[in-house]
Amino acid sequence: MLIPNLKEAQKRGKQKVLIKDRDYKVTSTQKKLGVGKKYYVKTYGCQMNEHDTENIKAILEDMSFTQTDNYMEADLILLNTCSIRENAHNKAFGMLGRIKNLKNKRPDIIVGLCGCMAQEEVVIKEIMDKYKWLDIVFGTHNIHKLPQILEESIKNKKLEIEVMSIEGDIIENVPVKRDSKYKAWINIMYGCDKFCTYCIVPYTRGKQRSRNPKHIIKEIEDLVKDGYQEVTLLGQNVNAYGKDLEINYGMENLLEDVAKTNIPRIRFVTSHPWDFTDKMIEIIKKYPNIMPYIHLPLQSGSDTILKKMGRRYTKEEYLTLFNKIKEALPYSSITTDIIVGFPEETEADFKETLDVVNKCKFDSAFTFIFSKREGTPAAKMVDHVSLETKNRRLQELNQLVNKYSKLANDKYQDKVVPVLIEGYSEKDESYLMGYTDTMKLVNVRGDSKYIGKIVNVKIEDVKTWSMDGVIVD
Ligand code: SAH
Ligand code: SF4
Ligand code: F3S
Repeated sequence: MLIPNLKEAQKRGKQKVLIKDRDYKVTSTQKKLGVGKKYYVKTYGCQMNEHDTENIKAILEDMSFTQTDNYMEADLILLNTCSIRENAHNKAFGMLGRIKNLKNKRPDIIVGLCGCMAQEEVVIKEIMDKYKWLDIVFGTHNIHKLPQILEESIKNKKLEIEVMSIEGDIIENVPVKRDSKYKAWINIMYGCDKFCTYCIVPYTRGKQRSRNPKHIIKEIEDLVKDGYQEVTLLGQNVNAYGKDLEINYGMENLLEDVAKTNIPRIRFVTSHPWDFTDKMIEIIKKYPNIMPYIHLPLQSGSDTILKKMGRRYTKEEYLTLFNKIKEALPYSSITTDIIVGFPEETEADFKETLDVVNKCKFDSAFTFIFSKREGTPAAKMVDHVSLETKNRRLQELNQLVNKYSKLANDKYQDKVVPVLIEGYSEKDESYLMGYTDTMKLVNVRGDSKYIGKIVNVKIEDVKTWSMDGVIVD
């Protein structure tokens, strides 16, 4: 049993990051463990978490399990969890409650928890106390060990916990079963060293480790051969890509080399304003296959709050960067993340946030109420602001954000824009759906032969969160 430790997770040493290309192994016994059995995986977190699920699915299929979308008929249920806010926690624990009922009826099913929650010391304590009936728990650093962990659990019929609080290595030989045939997630780096005071990620994902650019380019070249249309370069802070590498190679170099693979579309998330360079803006402008879409989290417009958050930029610096991007890329869409109700956020602080929203007129924004994450510095900060005030601020902010989303979308009325058609619309199967190069969701009338292709779409109607259009090519 290996359990996580908060103090260890906090450390950032000088230890060299090892690139391991043989650590994922499946024995012939493990290859047969899933014969005739079904698995169900539920994902709770960010794109990185979703991509981890794609790895988990491939590993399970390597062990002969087959996928089901109904947990009631699964022999193996895995929850790939997220720790970012309390409601993510509550959702996962709520689901465990439902699964417990199923396990009472079918004690032979295997139930597991993985992902960021598994990396939290408090969660593991709670599991050992109240959820002893679980079979396996493994962390974000142990995904490649899933075959061994599962085999041990089946053999010993007791709770198997394997979570390491390490700074982390890079495992290059984990298989992947991609959800889409047209769009792919590509990890370009793991972990985060920014330690924003409210955030749990640096504890759950370890230190910043950039993948070798050669491995990234090779992965994308293979996707181009397979007909993929879009890649999303993933990292908690992609602009800091390469800073931990021994070679002199940064995000601008990577973007340029990825652009040269001729993959039709490239996007990247998430950009921390702190590391956004002029050279990056230049490269995005130079290559038409780099999508004019930038997610640039603001978090707060107040200098006092930004300082307490440890974001290392001021309101003015954010606005300067925003304007520089908009000037160079006028057609681009810029989205953001905002937290309201950070400890002791005053009405004046909140007004500063609204002021930035009024100035930037974001294409859209993810907005959150601050959530205390145990072990982070912000969790210890005193806070006298009532939940009622925080809710009111969130509502006020959302109204403003929505107003600008609609205004941003209005500019698309009657325009012809490129859309990658992904499939049928979930709401109405007589429509296709896809995203513009600026990441606007479009419901499209047109022939299904266009699925998987980038086509020109004329926008006929515009709403706050989506648009309707017709294929014109
Ligand atoms: N690496 C990204 C953010 C990843 S988390 C970045 O730095 O921009 C996604 C978003 O969740 C954050 O941008 C932040 O707005 C929000 N978030 C993170 N921790 C939070 C917390 N404790 N409470 C509320 N929102 C939080
Ligand atoms: Fe969290 Fe900050 Fe790292 Fe983003 S940059 S993952 S908000 S610590
Ligand atoms: Fe959640 Fe972990 Fe992603 S905390 S947001 S799943 S990195």
